[in-house]
Formats: sequence, C-alpha cells, structure tokens
Amino acid sequence: MIQLQDVSRTYASDEIETTALGGIELAVEAGEFVAIMGPSGCGKSTLLNILGTIDRPSGGRYLFEGTDIARAPEGELAKLRRDRLGFIFQSFNLIDELTIAENVALGLAYRPMSSRDKKERVAAAMDRVGIAHRQRHHPYQLSGGQQQRAAIARAIVGTPRLILADEPTGNLDTENGAQVMDILEQLNADGSTIVMVTHSPAHADIAKRTVHMLDGRILSSARRAA
Ligand SMILES: Nc1ncnc2c1ncn2[C@@H]1O[C@H](COP(=O)(O)OP(=O)(O)OP(=O)(O)O)[C@@H](O)[C@H]1O
Ligand SMILES: [Mg+2]
Repeated sequence: MIQLQDVSRTYASDEIETTALGGIELAVEAGEFVAIMGPSGCGKSTLLNILGTIDRPSGGRYLFEGTDIARAPEGELAKLRRDRLGFIFQSFNLIDELTIAENVALGLAYRPMSSRDKKERVAAAMDRVGIAHRQRHHPYQLSGGQQQRAAIARAIVGTPRLILADEPTGNLDTENGAQVMDILEQLNADGSTIVMVTHSPAHADIAKRTVHMLDGRILSSARRAA
C-alpha cells in the first residue's frame, strides 16, 4: 500500500540543521497493523506526519498505492487525505463549539454525498465506537475516553484506506486506553490498515508488527509471533 524509500526530513534554522529522519525505508501492506516505538524525539511523529502527507520529506520517495507523492501538488495531497486517510491524535483535536455528531461529520466534509447518507454514516460510526448516546453533547462534556472514541469515529466515518494514530492512548488511563485499543484491533480485523505510534509495549503487542526507531532511523522491524 505504501512505501518510503530513503526518506529524510531535515529542519534548517539559522545555524543548526536538525535531521529528524534519515534513510527511512518502510513498506506497509494493506491489512497490516504496525506499531512505531522509540524514545522521545526520535522522529515518530515526523514519520507519521509524512505518511499522512501533513509534512513532506526533504528527500526520498513516498509511494502511495504505486504513485510517488513526495512532491505532489498540495491539492492532490488534500484530496488523498480527505478520501483515503484517517487521523487520530493523542489530544483528540475535537472542536468544542460543535456537537459530537457534528465533529464526526467533519470526517465527511467536502465528500460528494447526500446529507441523508452522511447522517447515516455518522450514526453508524458513532454506534461502532459506543458514543451514539452522546451525539448532542459537546466535547468538553465527555470524558477523555469518550472524546478519543469520538475522534476515532471522525477518523473512520469516511472509510479510509489507512488509519494513522499518534499516541492514541497517550492521554488516557489504563481502562480507556484498553477500550481504544480494542476498537483499533477490531477495525484492523475488519480490514483497516493501521500505523500507530505508541510508548506502551502492551499496546504495541496488539499490533502485528513493531518498528523500533532511534535518532531518526529505523532500528528494527519485528512481526509478532503468531
Ligand atoms: N518544526 C520543527 N523544527 C525543528 N525541529 C523539529 C521540528 N519538529 C520536530 N523537530 C525535531 O525533530 C525530531 C523528531 O521529532 P518528533 O516530534 O518526530 O519526535 P517523536 O519521536 O514524535 O517524539 P515524542 O515521543 O516526544 O512525541 C526532534 O529532535 C525534534 O526536536
Ligand atoms: Mg511524537
């Protein structure tokens, strides 16, 4: 599905150049569930942002379903994000002024679809993560776990090909973190491809493969024993 070839990302300031990523080789097949681990500052979020086309590589190639998109025009990337990617962040990133249902519907923004179809899809996504009863509430009225489940509903409502999650359980207690991991595991079992950054070895174990990073490089990639 995706392939990074010799991808690098450097940040240049007045005097120092920071290499956030260097020589990254990574392929993810459809249906995989990959966990990315490594110490703070090793480049995990940078890598995930490049996969999500929120950031661009400084060098190398990024093949998405066969097409090199490392230097694709922004409009093309925006369309790819809209139609094929779903994002989940550590801090939920819900909009407080909107209800939960409206937040979830943002995952369908600009999709050519009748409002009735959108409503049905939003309802199904909220149902799937167990927050249907909170649809008229606002994010600040929900617990952290409920907010993250709403964010997952927003990420999956457009049936993305690839789900990218940056420390999705980072702000949650054990119980709510486990619930979020159950949902991700189920989504993967149903065919979603997932790449997830995590600091939790237990949560990485739920993924089918763990990629370890250090200092902007990939150290190892190991599949979970069956
Ligand atoms: N906008 C930026 N300008 C300069 N350097 C940056 C910028 N963004 C990230 N970096 C640097 O790139 C490196 C990788 O950062 P990144 O956020 O990818 O780390 P991370 O592995 O996600 O860490 P954490 O576990 O703390 O989230 C760090 O050294 C960071 O300081
Ligand atoms: Mg990070």
